[in-house]
Amino acid sequence: MEPKNLKWWQKTVVYQIYPRSYKDSTGNGIGDLRGIISKLEYLKELGVETIWFSPFFASPQQDHGYDVKDFRLIDPVYGSMNDFDKLLKNMHEREMKIVLDLVLNHTSVEHPWFIESASNRDNPKRDWYIWRDGQKSNGKKPPNNWRSMTGGSAWKYYENTDQWVYFHFLPFQPDLNYRNPNVKEEMFNTMRFWLDKGVDGFRLDILHSIYEDEKLRNNPFSFSIYSDKNSALFFQQHKYDLNLPETFDFCLELRKLINEYEPERFLVGEVFGGIEQLRDYYGPENNSLNEVFLFEFTSNALKFNINKIRKIISRIEKSIPYPYTPTYVYGNHDRDRYLSLLKGNIQKAKLLVTMQLTLRGVPYIYYGEEIGMENVKFKLKSSEDPIGQKFAKFPYPQISNLIGFSLTRDRCRTPMQWSLEPHAGFSSNKETEPWLKVSNNSKLVNVEIQKENPASLLNIYKKLLKIRKEFNSLHEGELEFIKLEDLFKKVLAYRRVYGNQEILIYLNFANKDLTFRISKSNPELIFSSYFNNKESDIFINDRYIKLSAFEAVIFK
Ligand code: GLC
Repeated sequence: MEPKNLKWWQKTVVYQIYPRSYKDSTGNGIGDLRGIISKLEYLKELGVETIWFSPFFASPQQDHGYDVKDFRLIDPVYGSMNDFDKLLKNMHEREMKIVLDLVLNHTSVEHPWFIESASNRDNPKRDWYIWRDGQKSNGKKPPNNWRSMTGGSAWKYYENTDQWVYFHFLPFQPDLNYRNPNVKEEMFNTMRFWLDKGVDGFRLDILHSIYEDEKLRNNPFSFSIYSDKNSALFFQQHKYDLNLPETFDFCLELRKLINEYEPERFLVGEVFGGIEQLRDYYGPENNSLNEVFLFEFTSNALKFNINKIRKIISRIEKSIPYPYTPTYVYGNHDRDRYLSLLKGNIQKAKLLVTMQLTLRGVPYIYYGEEIGMENVKFKLKSSEDPIGQKFAKFPYPQISNLIGFSLTRDRCRTPMQWSLEPHAGFSSNKETEPWLKVSNNSKLVNVEIQKENPASLLNIYKKLLKIRKEFNSLHEGELEFIKLEDLFKKVLAYRRVYGNQEILIYLNFANKDLTFRISKSNPELIFSSYFNNKESDIFINDRYIKLSAFEAVIFK
């Protein structure tokens, strides 16, 4: 089927802001909405038009906003509803789209609903959460064997009512009970509240865990510590607590809800599972979640293994073909920064971003990736991140490579590096330390310096984002691999075709010059990741080209 008339959310590029770390306008060491507003021009110039914000709703901030105590209020740490309205207006005036992060799955223990619910067994809000008696005669063993996503039992005991409450993530984030129609209605109305204000979409936090088995059947044992295929984590196959049939029905309802709105809104789900399961989240007729995150690139593949990368792209193309919209995610607020996986190799990063911005689907850029921010080291025990604290005494820190998230996510959440000023220009107040220390590479890696250098990573992102917008085939076209027999293990090549427009992409994964024949004679060079390389440096004759180590090129 020939792609055509794609919707804005199929063609867009999404940029994720972690509000706490973007720009502090008040000088208290924590980023805020006004700070973000002051950087909208930067984002516009960069060339991204959809911005997803990690949560800034009222919250005790135990999980920095992923523990909400009022879904319809802005946390004073980040500003006021006025600031939000201003942000929305300023974004729409610049033709940018605003995507909020909605945590439907759970609330904070400080949410008034939970306080009521926990107060006694007869409270009208009791059934808004999942309370159960314990096992054994004295009830002192959790109701079943379910493990939380961060390890250990997924149940917390409350002595006052002698019952256990279920949580999928951390104990202070109890899961809402979506089998109760009042919960569903309230949360749907919350979505409408924001949609009526004009927000363009939602990123839906751990949506695969919205429903759990009514009978609370025990999960089976798994031999793997982590596997996407059968949703295994910590040696348990999450058969009865994740990806339930009810969850897929729920997603269809969510889509119906946003379909009530014009202009069109969108939903991107944070869900985990095998690729077939992920595909099912798009709905049988592309009528469910508009997109889901595909995380495979956030770990193994970014270690620059061409075979793995090719396999992942093929798998995505096969399982999530047009009209479904795949996503290409290189990092987020839970994962290691991709440049650190590449050991800081900027040339490799330039190749990978050329790939990300020329594949079929929607690229997700995590703030700071555009200047090559890297992980910053933090001690687990003094970690701001509650996961870091939870794992502080855990003897095997290497486990993080196996389970897909960092043990302290502080390391990928450090303040944005804007300039050579104190605190890298993140906070105007020299006296106050930012909530997380700024990377000590900020004198070399920052926006101010990179802006001036045409060969910088920042300018590569800008150039690619511009090219992506200019050529329809890059956002709307089909993707076909180009066969390069003998260089199969060194060069990844594909074409993007839309109508008469054909764009060719060649990526040299080898750490040396390579000369080879291209698929079309004398195409025009529109981009090289080596800033200075011109056609005369690349073409040997009209059919043969020479690429430098890790060079990425685009032809038309
Ligand atoms: C998601 C978020 C993560 C958060 C968790 C609990 O995985 O990405 O940051 O801590 O859900 O809401």
